[in-house]
Amino acid sequence: ALGSAMAPIGMGLKATIFCILAWASLAAGDRVYIHPFHLLFYTKNSCAQLENPSVETPPEPTFAPVPIQAKTSPVDEESLRDQLVLAVDKLGIEDRLRAKQVAMIANFLGFRMYKMLNEAGGTTSWEILSPPALFGTLVSFYLGSSDPTASQLQALLGVPGKEGDCTSRLDGKKVLSALQAIQGLLVAQGRTSSQAQVLLSTVVGLFTAPGLHLKQSFVQGLAPFAPAIFPRSLDLSTDLCLATEKINRFMQAVTGWKMNSPLAGVSTDSSLLFNTYVHFQGKMKGFSLVPGPQEFWVNNSTSVSTPMLSGTGTFQHWSDPQHNFSMTRVPLGESTALLLIQPHCTSDLDRVEVLVFHHNLLTWMKNLSPRAIRLTLPQLELRGSYNLQDLLTQAKLPTLLGADANLGKISDTNPRVGEVLNSVLLELKAVKGEQPTESAQQSGSLEVLDVTLNSPFLFAIYERHSGALHFLGRVDNPQSVA
Ligand SMILES: *[C@@H]1O[C@H](CO)[C@@H](O)[C@H](O)[C@H]1NC(C)=O
Ligand SMILES: *[C@@H]1O[C@H](CO)[C@@H](O)[C@H](O)[C@H]1NC(C)=O
Ligand SMILES: *[C@@H]1O[C@H](CO)[C@@H](O)[C@H](O)[C@H]1NC(C)=O
Repeated sequence: ALGSAMAPIGMGLKATIFCILAWASLAAGDRVYIHPFHLLFYTKNSCAQLENPSVETPPEPTFAPVPIQAKTSPVDEESLRDQLVLAVDKLGIEDRLRAKQVAMIANFLGFRMYKMLNEAGGTTSWEILSPPALFGTLVSFYLGSSDPTASQLQALLGVPGKEGDCTSRLDGKKVLSALQAIQGLLVAQGRTSSQAQVLLSTVVGLFTAPGLHLKQSFVQGLAPFAPAIFPRSLDLSTDLCLATEKINRFMQAVTGWKMNSPLAGVSTDSSLLFNTYVHFQGKMKGFSLVPGPQEFWVNNSTSVSTPMLSGTGTFQHWSDPQHNFSMTRVPLGESTALLLIQPHCTSDLDRVEVLVFHHNLLTWMKNLSPRAIRLTLPQLELRGSYNLQDLLTQAKLPTLLGADANLGKISDTNPRVGEVLNSVLLELKAVKGEQPTESAQQSGSLEVLDVTLNSPFLFAIYERHSGALHFLGRVDNPQSVA
């Protein structure tokens, strides 16, 4: 039974593994590797401890999550940000290397899952994918699992271990710390929070059926991935609409974010829902709101009115004459950028999406060069969510987190996992301030190129120090409410 369960994983994963290793060797030139990701694995010492615990380990303490209606103080996003910045201050060289490796693996997982969401067709109401959230969610389950589920999850992440070789297994703690570094590198730009151009907050809701006890060590272990974690219990066995409403109301109360996440694919015997909520806010320096609503062409016959931002400066830009799309890179702080990708012809969006988002988006960035540009784009407030269980089904792994999954490190009684939601709220706003780059004025003599995103386009948020793609998204209609 195990063999047949493993077969589709092996098949589906070959391509991914190949891609990651190929990229890793590209990045490192001709150097010879022991294993490109050995920094993320257990060391010989920790393996010895795992295999021979020197002291008798007592049963791990568990706790019963409080009911969802219990009073809860709201999340303070500024203090979450400060925590991340502190973590960045403490990073050593090896920690930064780990962050790069995890970013690389998460990017590839992101491309692969983006492709699956595309192939799943138009039934999901999504516009944004967060590779780090996706990755962090799967690593959280990896932390909570034992074999065979753990090794299946590791393979899905794209770095399969060797059977029976502890030193080829991911050390979940190291991986989640690297993910914390990735988040920190995004927000730790600008001395004070008022200077900061980006805000990123990750919150996890662990919703359990009454009676399910969670292991303390599991919930504490998630802290580097999500500094705010809310284990809460509620009735999941009868009225799922009511449960959805309660969860949404609770999350809105503690975060203040209007997300309205759907509850899907939950059966009434579910005992655990694992929901990750990500809020991103980017402030575009030197941009201002264009007076009055502007037209955005949803397709070649229909337009909607939407607020737009405009700014002039020197931006990295590339117009590909062969593949018929252009890419513009707008800085969001010292190391972070917003990448905007627009097909030359709107009806070509699907083709361009496959070209840039199903493979390695970053290779296209090599073509960018500075150019004086007047850029106009919609002010964005996008919401998207997807259920990882759907993605696993699409990846032909529908049972990976199913009834038979070995998740004994989450709880004493194996939880029955229902929905595993990733919800994203992404905002892009203007801040009036200095020009985007110093050379903006000097380039006045050159012709200023007009780049106007008034028809469907793609975007990504990229951070240079880690190499992480924090978001991949598609804007078909800036006014649509997902
Ligand atoms: C354009 O979009 C509108 C609104 O989504 C839709 O009703 C219409 O059928 C579309 N037209 C074409 C030609 O695709
Ligand atoms: C509008 O788009 C549709 C579908 O992409 C295409 O068939 C049609 O020719 C376009 N119309 C115009 C006026 O460009
Ligand atoms: C790009 O546009 C040119 C000119 O319109 C066309 O000949 C070419 O086939 C297009 N390329 C792709 C990949 O669609």
